[in-house]
Amino acid sequence: MTVVEHSAHEDDGPVLEARDLRVWYATDRGPVRAVDGVSFQIRRGEILGLVGESGCGKSTLGRGLIGLLPDGSARDGELEFQGLDLLHLSAREQRDLRGTDLAMIFQEPLTRLNPLMRISEHFEETLRTHEKGISKDEVRRRSLEVLRVMGIPPTRYRAYPHEFSGGMRQRLMIALALVLRPAFVVADEPTTALDVLVEAQIIRILHDLRREYDTSLLLITHNLGIIAEACDRVAVMYAGEIVEIGDATAVFSHPKHPYTRELLRSTISLSTTGLNYIDGAPPDLVEPPSGCHFHPRCPDAMRICAERDPVDRDHGDGHRAACWAADLSDGLSLSEDERAPLEREEIAVADEA
Ligand SMILES: Nc1ncnc2c1ncn2[C@@H]1O[C@H](COP(=O)(O)OP(=O)(O)O)[C@@H](O)[C@H]1O
Ligand code: SF4
Ligand SMILES: [Mg+2]
Repeated sequence: MTVVEHSAHEDDGPVLEARDLRVWYATDRGPVRAVDGVSFQIRRGEILGLVGESGCGKSTLGRGLIGLLPDGSARDGELEFQGLDLLHLSAREQRDLRGTDLAMIFQEPLTRLNPLMRISEHFEETLRTHEKGISKDEVRRRSLEVLRVMGIPPTRYRAYPHEFSGGMRQRLMIALALVLRPAFVVADEPTTALDVLVEAQIIRILHDLRREYDTSLLLITHNLGIIAEACDRVAVMYAGEIVEIGDATAVFSHPKHPYTRELLRSTISLSTTGLNYIDGAPPDLVEPPSGCHFHPRCPDAMRICAERDPVDRDHGDGHRAACWAADLSDGLSLSEDERAPLEREEIAVADEA
């Protein structure tokens, strides 16, 4: 190992690591393979962004990491959290971990806050559930501390949920998730329902988390601007797979995967040259396309793409992508036939096969 200057955090290794993780839902039509073999790590105090169109499996992945999946779903592969094998814990052990070590921030704060309970009571209940015997003073101290981080004045401690604005309620939800000091938090589109100003506040707060609590965060959003501002790294998800992952600046300035490139283009053009979505829609996850799942929509598709799964490769500095075209420009040799552009007719035939 080369000796380089690095922070103490990097020595700790990853907080969470998934290897070939799969999550599927049993349906009448067969299993919906919503997470189809993903591998990645999250480091301590890191914010990892997760982007992709609707239906690509982002929420399923987030819930799968925390173990909050509905009945009829299943997981396999490997999932390690601080040295614990999460896929082989008992239901009870999993429940104990949730809240104290693993937490999820949901989108709709109003449905999660009890209108008849003061904020102080919400904190009391949360803390007492997980830390039996905690004193009233300690509850107050811990709650006020986390409220301060969230920018909520101590004078509001005894207020009721309806006395807060939407943005403040969202911050309260985050505070309630953080008061237990979880090591890893999944935030699933936490800012979707908020206006731009509040959104900016929340992002700043999420950004401060690592300094205050050393929390690692998976931030799911379809807003690439938020990722660029708040995240260290970004993972791009398509049809149940992570197709690209790396340092957020590197991925945004030099995307390796055509899906990432098209996603960036469609977002940018939303504000400049009008609507410009990627043609088509993500595939049915009961029967995804052969080869590269993106090939029916990919402007760069070659013949090999419809036949063979692209390999997840590191293109330098941990910037990984699974794409034959990226391999080709990195020097991988493909036969003339393999790299011939995929014709529309061939796309249709490949889909039927
Ligand atoms: N409870 C469920 N039962 C069956 N299929 C589901 C269920 N929840 C989600 N799905 C399917 O799993 C796929 C991924 O969904 P989801 O994880 O919500 O994606 P995203 O968050 O990226 O929009 C979609 O095809 C969706 O229809
Ligand atoms: S593997 Fe082929 S079809 Fe898939 S994204 Fe790369 S170029 Fe496009
Ligand atoms: Mg979702």
